[in-house]
Amino acid sequence: MSIVFNKSKEISLDDETLRSDLLKIASGMDNVIALGRGDPDFHTPRHIVEAAKKALDENKHHYTPPTGLPELRKSISKNFELKYNLDYSEDEIIITAGVQESIALAMISLLKADDEVLITSPRFTTYDLTVRMCNAKPVPVHTYEKDNFALMPELIEQKITKKTKLLVLVSPNNPTGAVTPPNNIKKIAQIAIDNNLIIISDEIYADLIYDSHEHLSIGSLEKMKERTLTLNGFSKTYAMTGWRVGYIAGPKDIINKMTEIRHALSINSCTFSQYGALAALDGPQEEINKMKNEYNERRKFSMKALSDIGFTYGDPGGAFYIYTNVSNSNMTASNFCRELLVNTGVLMFPGILFGDEDDKYIRLSYLQPIEKIEESMTRINNFLK
Ligand SMILES: Cc1ncc(COP(=O)(O)O)c(C=O)c1O
Repeated sequence: MSIVFNKSKEISLDDETLRSDLLKIASGMDNVIALGRGDPDFHTPRHIVEAAKKALDENKHHYTPPTGLPELRKSISKNFELKYNLDYSEDEIIITAGVQESIALAMISLLKADDEVLITSPRFTTYDLTVRMCNAKPVPVHTYEKDNFALMPELIEQKITKKTKLLVLVSPNNPTGAVTPPNNIKKIAQIAIDNNLIIISDEIYADLIYDSHEHLSIGSLEKMKERTLTLNGFSKTYAMTGWRVGYIAGPKDIINKMTEIRHALSINSCTFSQYGALAALDGPQEEINKMKNEYNERRKFSMKALSDIGFTYGDPGGAFYIYTNVSNSNMTASNFCRELLVNTGVLMFPGILFGDEDDKYIRLSYLQPIEKIEESMTRINNFLK
């Protein structure tokens, strides 16, 4: 069985082939422990499910405005202020079919051919694909283990050209789990002002921050609201990946433009999902806090176990990923993933799927109960022996 690994830094459909090859191998095996995907293993809390059922029972079967349910936008506006000190009114917010759609809408609305887009890297590669859809050019700004994979302002400056239009800031980041610290965020804001850049701030993991790490929403800083699109959604924090609800907040003129495109694409995000999302924001938060505490327990357990194996990683301050350097195995990360899967049934993805050029890293998602993570660490230990 052979897998073709695409080592080029350009993200292409070959990368999807690699991902599906690993998934195909896994699907033919028994007793696989999947630490690969970015989809919470918890189900959506019951009160959210009940709210969506109630909406259906009450005949909420129809279109909403393309910007989304007014009461949901109002709740998001309040939540933005309470949690992140962001000042967006409800008519500066549009509900989307997940942050995935927000990314596409933002790119289509803002880019023209040959524009350059700086992207925190290694990265969520939807950014590359959507930038290319607009005939524009993705430009990775690398982050490094020595900096705990935080985005470093000086490395951004080195990549700015006359064609640079946007900077995509993803903190906490996927696949590294890195939280870019507030001081860096403030410097990045100044760079955006000095170079007239628009920031796309993907904050989908902003509620999943651990220990002493701090999230600063760049759009809350002075003179930044007018040049920032803030992206967030329900998939990760509330275990609602299948519901497809996200949102974008930004300057009114850009929101208006995106609303037209959004209307042309799909009119509105699923109506009963939006009622579920409303219950997620306005309802009890105990279940959500429980999930977050459990993620943190798994995170601490995995960090210790990986260190005991002799692997290193950048401090994963957020999300549910640990970007792990497996050079100690004397294998490339892609071979490590393949061999580990075939020999032990533990599934993880190599960093080259996230646009990394160094084939040294794997992304571990701690989206399994601790006992399963413990079992996978035992399997990794035995495999390395
Ligand atoms: C950084 C980042 N942005 C956006 C998304 C897409 O999220 P959604 O389910 O809201 O479309 C993901 C999903 O993994 C992600 O990791």
